[in-house]
Amino acid sequence: MTDVTGASDVLQTLFRSEQGGHEQVVLCQDRASGLKAVIAIHSTALGPALGGTRFYPYASEAEAVADALNLARGMSYKNAMAGLDHGGGKAVIIGNPEQIKSEELLLAYGRFVAALGGRYVTACDVGTYVADMDVVARECRWTTGRSPENGGAGDSSVLTAFGVFQGMRASAQHLWGDPTLRGRRVGIAGVGKVGRHLVEHLRKDGAEVVITDVREESVRAILEQYPTGVTAVADTDALIRTEGLDIYAPCALGGALNDDSVPVLTAKVVCGAANNQLAHPGVEKDLADRGILYAPDYVVNAGGVIQVADELHGFDFDRCKAKAAKIFDTTLAIFARAKDDGIPPAAAADRIAEQRMAEARAARTR
Ligand SMILES: NC(=O)c1ccc[n+]([C@@H]2O[C@H](COP(=O)([O-])OP(=O)(O)OC[C@H]3O[C@@H](n4cnc5c(N)ncnc54)[C@H](O)[C@@H]3O)[C@@H](O)[C@H]2O)c1
Repeated sequence: MTDVTGASDVLQTLFRSEQGGHEQVVLCQDRASGLKAVIAIHSTALGPALGGTRFYPYASEAEAVADALNLARGMSYKNAMAGLDHGGGKAVIIGNPEQIKSEELLLAYGRFVAALGGRYVTACDVGTYVADMDVVARECRWTTGRSPENGGAGDSSVLTAFGVFQGMRASAQHLWGDPTLRGRRVGIAGVGKVGRHLVEHLRKDGAEVVITDVREESVRAILEQYPTGVTAVADTDALIRTEGLDIYAPCALGGALNDDSVPVLTAKVVCGAANNQLAHPGVEKDLADRGILYAPDYVVNAGGVIQVADELHGFDFDRCKAKAAKIFDTTLAIFARAKDDGIPPAAAADRIAEQRMAEARAARTR
């Protein structure tokens, strides 16, 4: 799975390249509320496209479209690997949520999602929250990530963090022959909704945690909550160079693994929640060449989507947690396939996901 990197070549990518092939891309505008959104449906081979709504101040509209395309394709792979009967889709709303988010804008957005008649099911992502989905749901029944009071499952980051933790345990099992993280040093870049729950799992398991975040108040809150076993460093650059780091967990935005970061990583494992961690094709090989074990992002961060998918059928937390716990076995299976095929784990995960989608497509045409 490779990414759309340029912005000017969006149409070229969509219609002619291997990274494209999306079924549908919808540009949405509501001038009254200031809404500008892109909804990208990559695949409905396994079922209705499912993926969150990112609200972000993109530098340009073209950059937003490229991000929606990349994220939607990522969701197809993620949902396939999580064993869900859902295809991949994603939406982005362009703008600074702190400045332009309003009830009017979210309702307008809900009407656009509703107009797709269930081909795309939305949820939270960076910049959108449970309270926002409650508003969107007033206009659109294909909305998940709602609050329990409104028939939803609540914050999906709880199970996302649980799944990432399972991915870390599987990585430890594969590399060190034991799933425990006791005594390991784990660096988390981004202690937002997912990152802070991850700190909790790691501390409970006895790991030492190093954190960083651009929001000073988020760092301060964690340090106050955990007077021992958690330290902070100034920024991600310092984090990835931290001596004795066993695991690096990117939990902020995409592109964390790139030509600048990979050569200086001190960790032996990368396993985190952020989507699209590999900045460009080839980074997965750079990691493998350095002997760094990469637990594919879309495999280990599937806990949240497992949770929101369940919302459509009447949410049951224990059923979801049991499904998210399987991320441990899935991650181990990917490492085994990578070894057998002589390819990096990211490529092995792609192969397994593509196989499931191809089988579904073939079954449809039978
Ligand atoms: N929430 C979910 O259920 C879920 C599910 C799957 C994947 N993800 C992915 O996980 C990542 C985190 O999601 P979240 O819900 O915790 O988002 P969030 O917005 O709550 O947290 C992200 C955190 O990263 C920090 N951050 C941003 N830029 C940074 C930088 N350069 N260096 C350090 N910190 C930085 C932010 O201040 C924030 O605290 C995202 O990439 C998201 O797409 C989230």
